[in-house]
Amino acid sequence: MNYLIINGSPRKKITYSVIKQAISNFDGNFEEIHLAKEKIPMCNGCYKCIMEGEEYCPHYDIINPIMDKIRKCDGIIIGSPVYSMNVTALLKNFFDHTAYLYHRPQFFTKKALVVVTTAGAGQKKVADYIDENLKYWGVNNIYKLHFACGGKDSLEKDKINKTAKKFARDVESKKMHSPKFSNIISYNVWRAMACCDDPIPADKKYWFDSQLVSHEFAPEVKLNIFKKLFSKFVFFFFRKVFK
Ligand SMILES: Cc1cc2nc3c(=O)[nH]c(=O)nc-3n(C[C@H](O)[C@H](O)[C@H](O)COP(=O)(O)O)c2cc1C
Repeated sequence: MNYLIINGSPRKKITYSVIKQAISNFDGNFEEIHLAKEKIPMCNGCYKCIMEGEEYCPHYDIINPIMDKIRKCDGIIIGSPVYSMNVTALLKNFFDHTAYLYHRPQFFTKKALVVVTTAGAGQKKVADYIDENLKYWGVNNIYKLHFACGGKDSLEKDKINKTAKKFARDVESKKMHSPKFSNIISYNVWRAMACCDDPIPADKKYWFDSQLVSHEFAPEVKLNIFKKLFSKFVFFFFRKVFK
């Protein structure tokens, strides 16, 4: 299995040591991205990725190789320390460059492990924030590890090992989990939006070219009959609203 580590800390210290402890529990090919080294300029809010397509982002040459690595991996391990009760600016800036994925989710077969460390507060909130972003990316299943470490390496090895093993077993199984109702809603809101009278051009192109527009959810992820019906209902409801 191929794993991509995205380290949102400007240093290789506590968050990174939790990541290292986690990956010591399974085999695979590991590639690391340290966002501090990528030197991604701040998102300038030009809206080009959202309106015209991600390839029109002025920072596409830096962002696309990272997205390519995400596309190619089976599991994403993404870490951030808590900075002022949120993710680091490095990770937030990276997420801002992927905001088009809210409109055009695509990582439906990926699993992720989120790692957050903090001195004393905010770890759950920040892990939930990363989890929310990854859900909008389309990620199929997300595991979370968050610790208040008081500025020292986390000693909670048992918890790290247990969650890491679960994550790796899930990745290796290639099993696709049924999406939550909230994920079905967000998928269908954007699917319906792409069909409205005045759609965002890049969204329309994505949903129609990929043929996702005619699927209740990404075809790799199966829905039971209730979720299929729910998906149809949400799509028709929002298509009417947006028309
Ligand atoms: C700029 C900055 C802001 C921080 N903000 C918080 C905070 O809001 N709450 C908190 O409990 N710890 C805060 N911390 C502490 C770090 O979250 C904590 O030490 C973390 O484990 C460091 O991870 P790292 O070694 O991977 O960088 C902050 C640290 C820095 C440098």
